[in-house]
Amino acid sequence: MTVSPQPDERELLEAFESTIDRNDRIEPRDWMPEGYRKTLVRQIAQHAHSEIIGMQPEGNWITRAPSLRRKAILLAKVQDEAGHGLYLYSACETLGTSRTELTEKLIAGAQKYSSIFNYPTLSYADVGTIGWLVDGAAICNQVPLCRTSFGPYGRAMIRVCKEESFHQRQGYELLMTMMRGTDEQRAMVQESVDRFWWPSLMMFGPPDDDSPNTAQSMAWGIKRNTNDDLRQRFVDMTVPQAKALGVTLPDPDLVWNEERRAHDFGTPDWAEFQQVIKGNGPCNAQRIAHRRKAHEDGAWVREAAMAFAARTHEPEETTHDR
Ligand SMILES: [Fe+2]
Ligand SMILES: [Fe+2]
Repeated sequence: MTVSPQPDERELLEAFESTIDRNDRIEPRDWMPEGYRKTLVRQIAQHAHSEIIGMQPEGNWITRAPSLRRKAILLAKVQDEAGHGLYLYSACETLGTSRTELTEKLIAGAQKYSSIFNYPTLSYADVGTIGWLVDGAAICNQVPLCRTSFGPYGRAMIRVCKEESFHQRQGYELLMTMMRGTDEQRAMVQESVDRFWWPSLMMFGPPDDDSPNTAQSMAWGIKRNTNDDLRQRFVDMTVPQAKALGVTLPDPDLVWNEERRAHDFGTPDWAEFQQVIKGNGPCNAQRIAHRRKAHEDGAWVREAAMAFAARTHEPEETTHDR
């Protein structure tokens, strides 16, 4: 019996690198370095968890929406986020890591999600601010990921980004409506923007000189831009929108720099960011407890689905009389 010769690791690595260099996609069946797989699982899982945990701050307001129209919009938005989480868990499954395993890691506190969802939503204006700033920051982060080197992740991002732009618009439209309302409503919007501005800037992650994984992720074509580059883009995109809304962004150092053709801006409180990442943000414990309870409450659904699947897969003779 002859054994077909196996390509050695060096050849496989060369083929992998030339795919990356051509800006082609790596697909699940392709050989990939272990580090590439691990980095992707970590990043996609973190992204999936963010979509799922991100349903909570806004879900908090569904039963208290001020009108049927606002409720329908918010319900649709929160359901979209559930869908995003599911596409991303599926993308992770193509790398050999199951959704069950990822969910268990999330509720055990062993995997992260975006720091922004550990802040509370204190008024209905927060629904608008989250759509405008948080989904806006997500778009800045995610549009370049449509070109990421791993096929299933990039393709999931294309659909996600289309829905994110609806999210941003609904948020902006809500804030614009409030800004055209009473003084009290305008004050609610400003107060909300004051709370969410800095945490939104933190969504891009630590500064580049403190981001150890960025260089490797960029070399692998997983990331296409650095954290600081994306943060700058977000600021430049948001300033004219804030002006059109009539809100003030709470940063005294925010100013147009003609030479750089970009805005200069202040430094987020990175010590606060580190605290939130470590689990000490205002809502970390509440978010995980809620997710754990939802998972436990859903156990009967998973069991029923498994029992149903087992029954429908029984051989035909045992289920039908002939
Ligand atoms: Fe999303
Ligand atoms: Fe969204």
